[in-house]
Amino acid sequence: MRFVTITTPDDWHLHLRDGDVLSRTVADSARQFKRAMVMPNLVPPVTDTAMAMAYYERVMACKTNLQPLMTLYLTDHTDRQEIITAQRSGCIQAVKLYPAGVTTNANAGVTAIEKTYDVLEAMQEVNMPLLVHGEVTTAETDIFDREKYFIDEQLKPLLERFTNLKVVFEHITTQDAVEFVIQADTRVAATITPQHLLYNRNHLLSGGIKPHLYCLPILKHNHHQLALQQAAISGNPKFFLGTDSAPHARNAKENACGCAGCYSALAAIELYAQVFDQLQAMDKLEGFASHFGADYYGLHRNESTITLVKKPWQIPSQLDYADQTIIPLGAGETLDWQLA
Ligand code: DOR
Ligand code: ZN
Repeated sequence: MRFVTITTPDDWHLHLRDGDVLSRTVADSARQFKRAMVMPNLVPPVTDTAMAMAYYERVMACKTNLQPLMTLYLTDHTDRQEIITAQRSGCIQAVKLYPAGVTTNANAGVTAIEKTYDVLEAMQEVNMPLLVHGEVTTAETDIFDREKYFIDEQLKPLLERFTNLKVVFEHITTQDAVEFVIQADTRVAATITPQHLLYNRNHLLSGGIKPHLYCLPILKHNHHQLALQQAAISGNPKFFLGTDSAPHARNAKENACGCAGCYSALAAIELYAQVFDQLQAMDKLEGFASHFGADYYGLHRNESTITLVKKPWQIPSQLDYADQTIIPLGAGETLDWQLA
């Protein structure tokens, strides 16, 4: 039997939600991850340090070993003093930019990036990274092109204007994004999800719509999937793990207007292992999953380890989600690797 031991990984992009589902989401991530960058798109959004610290306490009350790293939700009205407060708190690691309306609970997001210039300047001064949902929101732009246009119209000018701002291009989905990140300077990095490595838009749309594969940014053409796979296994430290695990109850996804998000937290590291092994790159998993993110954020690498064993198991076909159910990413499918 094959065993692979790696430094305990971290999830650099995670939705835990809140309330009575927290115990489930936190426990699932804690199964494999030590730290998680916790996204702030709650209802209402986590827009200031006090809200983030209260949310932190609710996560910690779940009493797992998951260490939450908190983020603030950037709005048109965030002020520079809030960034100073966030930095001094020691609790906030980053600020998340959702262009207004771009995805789940993004209605309070930024309507025009110029409105945040003062805040971005403060972030640059205190070395607070900006985490970007990189899609344009213009209704006339084709949904498959929204990331590509974001690079030229928003991201390049932003990086030129704020030459010391650290920017993580979250959940990248295109070859355009891969190429952009490779040529950018070292303050730019990107996270990659398991769904964008494992699937493409044919999986979503061919032979019937699969609402549980619907996420944003949407799954793209197969050639983009291949580019993401190559980036993930390249050993380039600009690319690291961020699941974007984002639970929605089954009935909210199997719906005439289904929600965006894939729930991967339960089997995340095994899903990534599946891809890396298929590409004969298991030796590259540790850097991607456990080293590069911590290095980028200037945090220590974890000292503990996890061991994966090559032994097939089946992802459950559904999970309890408070008083509802949720269909996990890869439900019912067999994975080759499991946590020992
Ligand atoms: O698919 C997604 N779901 N993409 C996002 O950007 C947000 C997330 C969510 O919060 O459900
Ligand atoms: Zn997300």
